[in-house]
Amino acid sequence: MKVLVTGGKGLLGTCIAPVLGEHFDCAVCDIDEWDITSENAGKKMLDLHRPDVLINLAAMTDVDGCEDDPELAGRVNGAGPAVLAGLCSTRRVKLIHISTDYVFDGRKDSPYREDDEPCPQSVYGRTKLAGERRILESDVDAAIVRAEWLYGHSGSSFVEKVTKIGLSEGRLSVVNDQRGSPTYAKDLAMPIAAVIRKNLTGIYHVSNSGWCTWYDLAKAIFSIRGMDVEVFPISSKELGRKAKRPANSVFDLTKLRRDTGIEMRGWMDALKDYLSEAP
Ligand SMILES: NC(=O)c1ccc[n+]([C@@H]2O[C@H](COP(=O)([O-])OP(=O)(O)OC[C@H]3O[C@@H](n4cnc5c(N)ncnc54)[C@H](OP(=O)(O)O)[C@@H]3O)[C@@H](O)[C@H]2O)c1
Repeated sequence: MKVLVTGGKGLLGTCIAPVLGEHFDCAVCDIDEWDITSENAGKKMLDLHRPDVLINLAAMTDVDGCEDDPELAGRVNGAGPAVLAGLCSTRRVKLIHISTDYVFDGRKDSPYREDDEPCPQSVYGRTKLAGERRILESDVDAAIVRAEWLYGHSGSSFVEKVTKIGLSEGRLSVVNDQRGSPTYAKDLAMPIAAVIRKNLTGIYHVSNSGWCTWYDLAKAIFSIRGMDVEVFPISSKELGRKAKRPANSVFDLTKLRRDTGIEMRGWMDALKDYLSEAP
């Protein structure tokens, strides 16, 4: 089966493409070859690769940057997926689209299910939800995989950022009023492969299991790495970022388990594994 990945040279794509390549004939492209807002570029890429499945990872992911440029965020995160849905529908290509926990407001006390009502609090969340809806309202054969709190071998992930600050400063303040499930991006590969093989449709929540706060995560990173770094808990308000983040991002993984049989490993095991192989 032939799979084409868009936006595939970012954090998630770099982690999952090698694993997907072991199971499928997998090609990867990014904005230099295909800007997903361009239908013409899309036609050329689909004619060139003739995939059975398109996995879309392309997005404007700078959450605070989206507040500064909502028009661009809307074009990439909202209109882009609609272009993909149209192209895939015409060519009978299955579309797997990656979305986010930021479609929720985080006010729920328990883990979020796929059928919980979204209520995004940021431009990023609103535009990603718009992208989901454009796909679900079209007649394309599609599945949406919502991810959260990803890290991987990329300088832009939380794990790498706090490690760098810890090494240079020896101390840092980290938000302790947002909880979620840190997820090794590589661990999304097998659930995505299962969605393809089982030809699933609709929305799936995927993350490592268990949860913590960003503060807990920073402490865990330094402890596993054996780094002596002072970590201070602060509130989201004290940090004062432009975009509002959900206080609760934890996913209910029941639907994933029921439909794929996949039991996601705990976030701490995944983190230890990642740190043992990190350069
Ligand atoms: N990282 C997380 O914690 C997280 C959590 C939940 C969901 N997600 C979702 O997971 C997916 C992958 O995220 P990621 O963390 O891998 O993001 P990333 O590292 O920013 O990768 C996204 C890739 O898409 C490219 N891109 C941006 N605009 C594009 C366009 N118009 N056409 C084609 N490519 C474009 C980017 O290129 P440039 O770098 O040149 O812009 C980048 O290579 C996204 O849909 C994101 O919303 C991520």
